[in-house]
Amino acid sequence: MSLETPPLLLGRDLIENVAVSNRVNSCGWDKEPSRNPFDDSEIALASVIDAGEMAAVINEARLAFHKWRETSASERSAALHRFHEELIRNRDGLAELVTLEQGKPITEAYGEVDYAAAYVSWYAEEAKRAYGETIPGANKSSRIVVSPMPVGVCAAITPWNFPLAMITRKLAPAIAAGCTMIIKPAPQTPLCAIALGNLWRKSGGADGVVQVVHGDAQAIGDALLSSPIVQKLSFTGSTPVGRLLYEKAAKTIKRVSLELGGNAPFVVLADANLEAAVQGAILAKYRNAGQTCVCVNRFVVEDSVFEEFRDRLVDASKSLLAGSGMDDPDIGPLIDDAAVAKVKSLIEDAKNNGGKFALESEVLGNRVLTPSVVEVTPTSRIALEEVFGPVATLLRAHDQDHAIELSNSVDVGLAGYVFGENLNATWRVAERLEVGMVGINTGAISNAAAPFGGVKQSGLGREGGRQGLQEYLDDKYFCIGGF
Ligand code: SIN
Repeated sequence: MSLETPPLLLGRDLIENVAVSNRVNSCGWDKEPSRNPFDDSEIALASVIDAGEMAAVINEARLAFHKWRETSASERSAALHRFHEELIRNRDGLAELVTLEQGKPITEAYGEVDYAAAYVSWYAEEAKRAYGETIPGANKSSRIVVSPMPVGVCAAITPWNFPLAMITRKLAPAIAAGCTMIIKPAPQTPLCAIALGNLWRKSGGADGVVQVVHGDAQAIGDALLSSPIVQKLSFTGSTPVGRLLYEKAAKTIKRVSLELGGNAPFVVLADANLEAAVQGAILAKYRNAGQTCVCVNRFVVEDSVFEEFRDRLVDASKSLLAGSGMDDPDIGPLIDDAAVAKVKSLIEDAKNNGGKFALESEVLGNRVLTPSVVEVTPTSRIALEEVFGPVATLLRAHDQDHAIELSNSVDVGLAGYVFGENLNATWRVAERLEVGMVGINTGAISNAAAPFGGVKQSGLGREGGRQGLQEYLDDKYFCIGGF
């Protein structure tokens, strides 16, 4: 593990100052450093907006909306294609920024750039497919036409774990639909958001369509949520924060999309191919050091294969390298001290409550944790809370119905996974999981073409796919009479 992180090289151009009208890294604003979670080294300065300026930002988004909604679907498609080209041209710089600012291994960071860009190219095409419909009228002299209209000015409050992809997943469909967007990135990862705003502009994207505001989360959030001009909020983050934002958005009856926390079960059936299951488990557990909403939180394993699956998982987990993202290990640092403290406290709680550790985490450097594998009871904290770290928690299931019952025993339901060879049984379990997305014999489910989202307290709405565009459109009904 290297002790020093190299300075920002390729990504520097992406975060240079640009004009105030674009609201990203503005020259006149106060600045604060964004830091590398691996060693706290300063990466670069990010402009901080004074909350008093939010009214001007929102007004600019409103004025831009009046022009942007007049563009044709093919013009918006072309703008998104140009944006996509710019993202790909700057793939190296963006990946470097992601690793330095978020911490994930550089190979994963390249994966994130491609994932983020995939949303832009998907919605460049989907922009042309915002179909309406005609419906037979009640009488001969009338016609019913339904036409999708852009929702208006939108706000996105985005997380640090995918500092590019969680923005483009919201931004690209908004642009495609004819909306404008104000992005408030997570305080830990402003530079990635600033880079995206700059690249929109560099690609020739219209002024005011994309604005990035970094700063006091509470003040910015309140300004966005209390504004009657902002018609929609899209948020990705924890369930408690989502609940709070939902309440605040209710005052002005905003449309809301919420992609909130999960507690993904990974069911291993008695006839599963255990080699494939462990491969899937490694992907679905340790991606981004366990810091994704779709990471496995509980392995629910049928009794007859429990020990074998556990031992294979321990062997595979032990072989993972952890360290600085720039050295491209398998596992990078956790995002901050609070994240480390939370994971450590869950491990401690499991220890104090009879958890059987087959592998124990070591802390390397500031925030780098190696994997743990632990068998616990279904009511222990670590099984009930979203871990967001490299701890694999195992639960025993007597049979398939017990596996379903254990899997569904939480009040969130984002992703789930099932491994099994018998098609009927595997499909039956997959159908019964109370989640919005299921990986069947795979640990990788994320895809720009598919609707991403949860049920229960994991949120509202879908992002990605055909469905993601609908979140930024309102159906307008025209009744034409007098024929
Ligand atoms: C998330 O963690 O919220 C997103 C994960 C993904 O898109 O794969």
